Amino acid sequence: MLRETVRALAEAKIAPFAAQVDEEGRFPQEALDALLGADLHAVHVPETYGGAGADALATVLVIEEVARVCGSSSLIPAVNKLGSMPVVLSGGEELKHTYLGALARGEGMFSYCLSEPEAGSDAAGMKTRAVRDGDHWVLNGVKRWITNAGVSEYYTVMAVTDPAKRSKGISAFVVEKGDEGVSFGAPEKKLGIKGSPTREVYLDNVRIPASRMIGAEGTGFATAMRTLDHTRVTIAAQALGIAQGALDYAKQYVTERKQFGKPIGDFQGVQFMLADMAMKLEAARQLTYSAAAKSEREDRDLTFHGAAAKCFASDIAMDVTVDAVQLLGGYGYTRDYPVERMMRDAKITQIYEGTNQVQRIVMARNLP
Ligand code: CAA
Repeated sequence: MLRETVRALAEAKIAPFAAQVDEEGRFPQEALDALLGADLHAVHVPETYGGAGADALATVLVIEEVARVCGSSSLIPAVNKLGSMPVVLSGGEELKHTYLGALARGEGMFSYCLSEPEAGSDAAGMKTRAVRDGDHWVLNGVKRWITNAGVSEYYTVMAVTDPAKRSKGISAFVVEKGDEGVSFGAPEKKLGIKGSPTREVYLDNVRIPASRMIGAEGTGFATAMRTLDHTRVTIAAQALGIAQGALDYAKQYVTERKQFGKPIGDFQGVQFMLADMAMKLEAARQLTYSAAAKSEREDRDLTFHGAAAKCFASDIAMDVTVDAVQLLGGYGYTRDYPVERMMRDAKITQIYEGTNQVQRIVMARNLP
């Protein structure tokens, strides 16, 4: 029922703008309005804090169905979860009521600030500093590759509070867009997900109350990694959705396109391609849904399964979208058809929330 509801909403209110959003590189406000109107913008927020209280699998379904029509728009529910998960996992009650409540009410979106210009895969090598000053913390530094930066109101920022301790000297904070000293870089010019702004976040003597620290001092890196355990599953969901959109389009196309006197879908070479695409996608879906169940239960082996789902589903999304372009031939290579956009959008799922090489490090360190 949830899938049908989100699919109908996505097709009616998000799909019509997907090509334009990509072409113009503009934020999909129509998608945000539609998701807010249906209370689907941040379904993971627990009911205690005014949210829909959707479990991890339901959240995956929402992201998957939005991604099926527009990869950029699926980053609204996905990054709202990524940005706010540190608060869900480690925040005190007051912080949860304030920020999860605001997110659930649609007062602002959440972004996640871990990466820096010189600290991507080596996240613990970050330089952004937070220094205690009475009952405040003062933050200075640059965060890079921040999804939805500028359009989000709230930012989870990981910063060094004790440089001598590397990962154990990192703490997490909530920073607001309106805090003095917060500003943003120019939007990155990207290959895909062009509707979702990716910008640097500059923190210039940003003074925030100590109550905005998420969890205890020194636990920020562990919180950031625990967050990714859960949200790599949502990137897998985005990958599934993008791939499903491309497969659905190609499946229909081959029944209409005629060559040699019959629909190209009648040729076994084309049928075999579609069979392989659907088979791989279904395998990725099962891995993702099982990882979602582990996320919901916070199973001990979530770290492996979250990384495996993200790695496998994103690789499959790339394969499937490339094959969809191939099935449409020259038409697939043009912007008159949606599959080249889907192929460009799929690529990032192999890179963000940890490259697929990092996923293999994570899996190898956490073999089941
Ligand atoms: N759960 C809980 N704690 C964890 C953990 C986990 N999954 N993983 C690590 N930790 C904690 C542990 O306490 C560990 O300490 P112990 O030695 O006591 O166990 C501590 O963190 C340090 O862990 P590591 O020694 O494993 O740290 P490392 O420096 O070797 O790094 C890494 C490991 C896996 C490579 C990590 O740096 C990593 O995941 N890198 C990729 C970062 C990433 O995914 N960035 C994406 C940013 S989000 C994004 O893409 C933006 C967007 O907007 C979409």
